[in-house]
Amino acid sequence: MVIFGASGDLTSRKLIPSMYEMARDGGLSPDTCILGVSRTGMSDEQFRDKIEPDVRASVADFNESTWRNLADRIHYQAGDATDAGFYQQLRSRIDQLSGQHGCRGNILFFLSVAANLYEPIIRQIADAGLVTEGKRWCSIDPGARSWQRVIVEKPFGHDAPSAVELNRALGRTFEEESIYRIDHYLGKDVVQSLLVFRFANTVFEPLWNQQYIDHVQITAAETLGVRDRTSFYDQTGAIRDMLQSHLMQILAFVAMEPPTDYTPEYIRQEKAKIIDAIEIPAPDRIGEFAALGQYGSSDGSPAYHESKGVAPGSTTETYAALALHFDNWRWAGTPFYIRTGKMLAAKRTEIVVQFKPPAANLFKLVPGLEGKSPRPANRIVFEIAPSERVSLRFEAKKPGSGVVIESIEMLADFSEQFHLPVVEAYGPLIVDAMRGDQTLFKDRSEIEGAWNAVMPFIGPASDSIRRDIHANYAPGSWGPATADQLLARHGRQWHND
Ligand code: BG6
Repeated sequence: MVIFGASGDLTSRKLIPSMYEMARDGGLSPDTCILGVSRTGMSDEQFRDKIEPDVRASVADFNESTWRNLADRIHYQAGDATDAGFYQQLRSRIDQLSGQHGCRGNILFFLSVAANLYEPIIRQIADAGLVTEGKRWCSIDPGARSWQRVIVEKPFGHDAPSAVELNRALGRTFEEESIYRIDHYLGKDVVQSLLVFRFANTVFEPLWNQQYIDHVQITAAETLGVRDRTSFYDQTGAIRDMLQSHLMQILAFVAMEPPTDYTPEYIRQEKAKIIDAIEIPAPDRIGEFAALGQYGSSDGSPAYHESKGVAPGSTTETYAALALHFDNWRWAGTPFYIRTGKMLAAKRTEIVVQFKPPAANLFKLVPGLEGKSPRPANRIVFEIAPSERVSLRFEAKKPGSGVVIESIEMLADFSEQFHLPVVEAYGPLIVDAMRGDQTLFKDRSEIEGAWNAVMPFIGPASDSIRRDIHANYAPGSWGPATADQLLARHGRQWHND
């Protein structure tokens, strides 16, 4: 695996720890080796020393010998990825390491670099003859057919046209089946188990439509601010960073039609279809469908717009909430509210499926049940982080005399049920890419569709909802007042408790 951008945060905090977990759990082939590439000059040993503390901090049960075993297979090559000359060095290094570790010329390129470097890197990889799909290339096993694949990180492009262009550029070097557009949220177990929950049980699917579901909320809330990523983040914002990718993928799993089969083609087809069914609001009505925010200052830390590295007067959003509607038979009339933000009250990623109240209210004389607005009951919550749990809250009669109705909860905790530790989402996805399984990766039409759906909220039409954005929510809160109004207009509330 060749990681471009190896001196970055993602490599030490997510990629290498996830490879550690895969090696520990026996998921990584023992002849796999990892070559980190970036500009900073470092030896193999210095690179290992740099990432080791992050691996220790990230994995649950750090074991010295598992780490040594993996670390011996981690290497580093300094170089300028935009310089053609560098790729000859890279090629001979890959050759040498393949010989040393017994690889078979199979290469997984992982692009964890600024989006404007994707195209030049892909072009140079091709020009250097590193992509030889199906032809013999490595001397180790002359009879074996090798593969070369590429994993591309998000944000995939900056908007709809740049995503189309990037897809074209990838297609000039790699076959579609060798392109892995990663979204680490698809590596999260609860996200994957949504399909099993919906399509391996008969109790839920008949209710999974506009007739029974009042609305759905999808939240990815973070307590951390932008920290030292301001230069990237100020060009990106919450919609591009989280919503167009991670939240759209969760939304697709919740809302899609059953695929014909559990194969990458059928699953990706259904995801693309549901994303295309999102109604795109007219530019002059954006304010009815979106709320954007920027965090203010808190003790000692500056407001986003005053932070170092942020352009003066920047209106980049650190919080975004959208109300999405589908123009299809299953969901017409049932809104999906999706929100994400930095510096919020809790680190929480979840999906709340709120069912409608019963059509006729038998208990209308019972205090508390007179009204018809949704109560906290009749609700399924899929908690993706920090814990992995599914809960069902329903109304019950409180034991004792008289009818007193209270909602109670049934809870399934995945780690308690299965006695398995939570692993970093990247690991299983990278191993899938090594095995050639694209089920949990995005295809080009899904990505382009997801960009189309968010374009009004990032384009010039969104200026009207960015006007009073500076410090419009306090760190540690649940976001700007406009986000509450988005739901309150329809008598609904965010699930914040
Ligand atoms: C990344 C975003 O894709 O996801 C980050 O770029 C964000 O801004 C992160 O913090 C959140 O991931 P997780 O797995 O911690 O929810």
